[in-house]
Amino acid sequence: MEPTKTVLMTGAAGFIGSYVLDYFFTRHPEWRYLVLDALTYAGDFRNIPSRIASAPNFRFIYGDVRNAKVVEQLVAQSHIVIHFAAETHVTRSIHDDSPFFESDVIGTQRVANAVAAHRDTVERFIHISTSEVYGTALQPLMNEDHPLIPQSPYAAAKAGADRLVMAYYLTYKIPAVIIRPFNMFGPRQHLEKVIPRFITSCILGEPLTVHGTGESQRDFSYVSDLARAIELAALAPAGLVVGEVFNVGAGAGIAIRQIAELILQEMAGGAASEINFTSYALNVGDRPGQVFRHTADTGKIQRVLGWQPEVSFREGLRQTIDWYRANEDWWRSKLWMRVVPIETEGGKIELH
Ligand SMILES: NC(=O)c1ccc[n+]([C@@H]2O[C@H](COP(=O)([O-])OP(=O)(O)OC[C@H]3O[C@@H](n4cnc5c(N)ncnc54)[C@H](O)[C@@H]3O)[C@@H](O)[C@H]2O)c1
Repeated sequence: MEPTKTVLMTGAAGFIGSYVLDYFFTRHPEWRYLVLDALTYAGDFRNIPSRIASAPNFRFIYGDVRNAKVVEQLVAQSHIVIHFAAETHVTRSIHDDSPFFESDVIGTQRVANAVAAHRDTVERFIHISTSEVYGTALQPLMNEDHPLIPQSPYAAAKAGADRLVMAYYLTYKIPAVIIRPFNMFGPRQHLEKVIPRFITSCILGEPLTVHGTGESQRDFSYVSDLARAIELAALAPAGLVVGEVFNVGAGAGIAIRQIAELILQEMAGGAASEINFTSYALNVGDRPGQVFRHTADTGKIQRVLGWQPEVSFREGLRQTIDWYRANEDWWRSKLWMRVVPIETEGGKIELH
């Protein structure tokens, strides 16, 4: 039987894209899936489950989203385009910003152009933006109308891409939906990100390193909640979602220090009294451009699409810990990439 739809996912050899690919493939096995990924240091072909990698209705295309010709050929075959590909690590963007503007902005321009050229056949273009575009919250909960005050090169590049997609919607009426996820976590997330770094440090018996005092807050969701939001945005009637921006987050802040404590508790495996809270060090200065508070108002996606967060932080954390415990061969080879050297004010080099 011919597949009824073709879905193109860029960057699906990374953390979120590979999860969403698995989620869609499981729920819509009759569709055809194309993945375009440049396999940067953050991509890993092993992230694509082998049952998908070997399926006749799956094709992996090794290539760059900046390659207009390749992108155009793939978009021409697709009904749904989900654009994840990007450089994604805030700290790395402070260390070296160029790849961020190239992949995140120019790459998005290539994808948006291709969608504009094929807007008769592309039904939906989901652009994965980020809550980092907002910067530090001006009010306790940030809705989609919060001003965009990006505070790092990564956030600035993603803000450029986010506004580019909106401008292409306004100019060419591309069927775009912009999703702004807050912080996500789950299996296969790169070790440079805070939760995998803490979990693997615990497995290795190392102290956990927290930036500054660890009081800065983030809004963390388990990645399956985002996958569900993307599916809803992909399948909703166009009139409800096209040209719209949707936050996806838990709607609650958690301090980085508290995450470290919870991971220590979960991984100690015993009573609270056995936890050695001195086993992590608050020894690293605050990162330049650090955003202090960051919590989602998800009222819009709840109202329009009936989406609700379903996985509690603790439940998501348990599933994530189980995955890292069971997949040491996946992360061992990435250990050297856990820290990035950056220059702080005053010219001091710190490892973040
Ligand atoms: N992880 C989070 O908490 C989070 C939160 C909000 C938004 N986002 C956004 O979600 C998307 C996915 O994030 P992630 O955490 O899965 O990232 P990731 O770093 O794990 O994966 C990124 C993927 O994109 C690929 N890629 C990078 N540059 C490319 C290029 N020029 N051409 C083709 N492929 C390229 C990489 O090889 C990798 O497979 C990104 O757009 C990111 O900005 C992530």
